[in-house]
Amino acid sequence: MVDRELLLFMPASSIFFAMLSGEILSKLASISSSSNLFTSPEDKIAYSYDGTPLLQQLPGAVIRPRSAEEVSQIVRLANQEGFPLVARGSGSGLSGGSVPLEDSVIILMNHWNRILEIDEQNLTVWVEPGVITGQLHSAVEARGLFYPPDPGSAAICTIGGNVAENAGGLRGLKYGVTKDYVMGLEAVLANGERVRTGGKSVKDVAGYNLKDWLVGSEGTLGIFTKILLRLVPKPETATTMLVFFDRLSDSAEAVSAIIASRITPAALEFLDNTTIRCVEDYARLGLPTNLEALLMIEVDGRKAVVDEDADRILSLCRKHGASMINVAENEQDAQRLKSARKVAFAALARIRPTTILEDATVPRSLVAPMLEFIQQVARKRNLTFGNFGHAGDGNLHPTCLTDERDEKEIHAAEAAFEEIFEKAIELGGTITGEHGTGLTKKKFLERQVGSAAVELMREIKRVVDPNAILNPGKIFSPKPRCEGPLPGNRDQLQKFLDQGAFV
Ligand code: LAC
Ligand code: ZN
Repeated sequence: MVDRELLLFMPASSIFFAMLSGEILSKLASISSSSNLFTSPEDKIAYSYDGTPLLQQLPGAVIRPRSAEEVSQIVRLANQEGFPLVARGSGSGLSGGSVPLEDSVIILMNHWNRILEIDEQNLTVWVEPGVITGQLHSAVEARGLFYPPDPGSAAICTIGGNVAENAGGLRGLKYGVTKDYVMGLEAVLANGERVRTGGKSVKDVAGYNLKDWLVGSEGTLGIFTKILLRLVPKPETATTMLVFFDRLSDSAEAVSAIIASRITPAALEFLDNTTIRCVEDYARLGLPTNLEALLMIEVDGRKAVVDEDADRILSLCRKHGASMINVAENEQDAQRLKSARKVAFAALARIRPTTILEDATVPRSLVAPMLEFIQQVARKRNLTFGNFGHAGDGNLHPTCLTDERDEKEIHAAEAAFEEIFEKAIELGGTITGEHGTGLTKKKFLERQVGSAAVELMREIKRVVDPNAILNPGKIFSPKPRCEGPLPGNRDQLQKFLDQGAFV
């Protein structure tokens, strides 16, 4: 594992976690059966990382619970014995959310993949957390319904992971993000209690809003066992366009002009020249590779409105210097044009051994200065960056193409991202628009939200999960109250905790 400050991994002994003894393993096996407990080196390696580069840590064991009751028993055991748990879907996360700590037990949820009920009267769907987002799209669209959140990884990511990270995606501009569609949750809390929060009522203001508090909690406050999502009617039609610009600044101005014209496209996505070239090299879509920027725009809704909006968007793009326009003629063509954007990450990832992709986000009127800044930083530090992202949301994906074996270059990349995050904060934006804070961005959280807010988050975590069982060390680190080396043995540690060693 690359030793970088960003990791801020705490060795297990610095919190209070027990080694996973044979006795603990056999208790785990007796909960979910030995055929659902994995401890071989090859199993552990398979779950030692997620989609985030430069982060890897072997878990102590991997377990596949069969029911919510088993999840609850595992959580209770973790509290009794003092070992951490990391719930995991497909592991496609990009902030280290499902990367284990040493001696963690990974709880696999991706085999819980049933769509339980599509309710056409209430426009809702109950799902298990392991349902693949893209498969949910297809299932509800077959009934004339629509689940709008569309993360770039929709073909592989799970709804449970989307809810844990409050994932965004390509349709955020018009439709919002995952939290806007979660109506109810069944979850196991850190003490093993099972709760249901929310439901099918469109309006519900009973008590604190526990549902929204769990959404985006990155596995630190609860483990979802069932999820109720809101659906909307499937748009009658959609038009997909690719618009090319000689100059990146023109494309940014076109984005601002579209938004200022009060049209809200379903997707308003951009790719810079480096990304266009990588996409073309990978997917052979016939994209011109000599232009500075490409916008992928989709409008959806009633046919007459879609036609009118598409015409207005194209004329705004022409006015702002569009040099080439490609409008999909049918659904197959639309999928082809959309794939120019959808494969961006995969295409960039082929160029160098290590791809560091971030999601620094700014108010959308500031996309142009932010992009300009990212390019300057890349030049100054002699780094290769591809840039793409959700231009209409201001949610950018500056992506550094690098090599983790080159320590100097990795340090330069880290310094570049630090500057980029600082700039996003300075412009009133955020260090993460959709991928979560996890391990990679916790170092920057306080700079954005302030120390009082981070302290409050720590306090919430401490009250809800006093033994720091659920995904500890993510979002923020527990803070020792005393100086000096931390005790390594569990009894000492217990005493230490009883004295309130961690806040
Ligand atoms: C995307 C992921 C990387 O937008 O967020 O493709
Ligand atoms: Zn994205």
